[in-house]
Amino acid sequence: MMYDDDQWALATRGVRAGQVRSAEGEHSEPIFTTSSFVFSSAAEAAARFGGDEPGNIYSRFTNPTVRTFEQRLAALEGGESCVATASGMSAILAACMGLLAGGDHIVSSQSVFGTTTVLFNKYLRKAGIETTFVPLTELAAWEAAIRPETKFLYLETPSNPLTEVADLRALAELAHNHGALLVVDNCFCTPALQRPLELGADIVIHSATKFLDGQGRCMGGAVVGDKKRVGEEVFGFLRSAGPTMSPFNAWVFLKGLETLSLRMKAHSESAMVLAQWLEQRPDIVQVYYRALRATPSTSWPASSSRRRVASSHLR
Ligand SMILES: Cc1ncc(COP(=O)(O)O)c(C=O)c1O
Repeated sequence: MMYDDDQWALATRGVRAGQVRSAEGEHSEPIFTTSSFVFSSAAEAAARFGGDEPGNIYSRFTNPTVRTFEQRLAALEGGESCVATASGMSAILAACMGLLAGGDHIVSSQSVFGTTTVLFNKYLRKAGIETTFVPLTELAAWEAAIRPETKFLYLETPSNPLTEVADLRALAELAHNHGALLVVDNCFCTPALQRPLELGADIVIHSATKFLDGQGRCMGGAVVGDKKRVGEEVFGFLRSAGPTMSPFNAWVFLKGLETLSLRMKAHSESAMVLAQWLEQRPDIVQVYYRALRATPSTSWPASSSRRRVASSHLR
């Protein structure tokens, strides 16, 4: 079945995009639990390995179930290409290793997932890639941190756990004016609530482990963007380094995507009820939820219990 961007609403894309039914006419996508694929001749094998003929070779390169997940998420985000990974962290690593080189520089929001900070500060630094951290909502600080060798402006919005919100259009313009890419971790909103590519971002990162699954079953991640950067460069890193998504996990995430738009609506409604309830409790000092008009800016109150909440996110 073909996916048509112009005709299909988001909820329908979540159920149908990327599905190619086999001759069996299955309703739900099959799981191709195979490490490798057979060839009808040595010539066909040579053509596939040489890239002269499309087709599967080995599941570290491509797998039909994983491909369906990739196409469905690309359709939801409005991207040309998507590559699926073993976890959200491996998606971030693959984007960096596929698109950056030693000597390059990242300007990152300081309000990113703790392990992302470790990856940037410790491991990318070893590969000669430096990172400068800036406050998410201070555009002037982003601009001041940009160097000639800056290749990524990197952020999460809303941030975890303070729900600070970035101006994606302004940051995309800033990145492009300096020859850099805007890379957005969209795992909290998902494409059901926010599509960064439509606002000018170049690359979208996901930890599929979170809302894309939504039911706590699997680890996974994804990188979405254009064909050249994601479909070739990031894919090339994954094919060589190997942190790809398993077909079983891809199938679980496909089932998650089928209910994504309904679940995100329900999550948003529950979060608002909870935030309003917390806001009225006398023992609550501050509620950080951007959709509440009273949510202040970004600093934590002095209470150490709140700091414990913040640091519990740094797994
Ligand atoms: C915003 C964000 N990005 C990335 C990750 C990493 O994803 P994973 O745990 O799937 O590697 C997390 C994990 O909590 C996260 O919260």
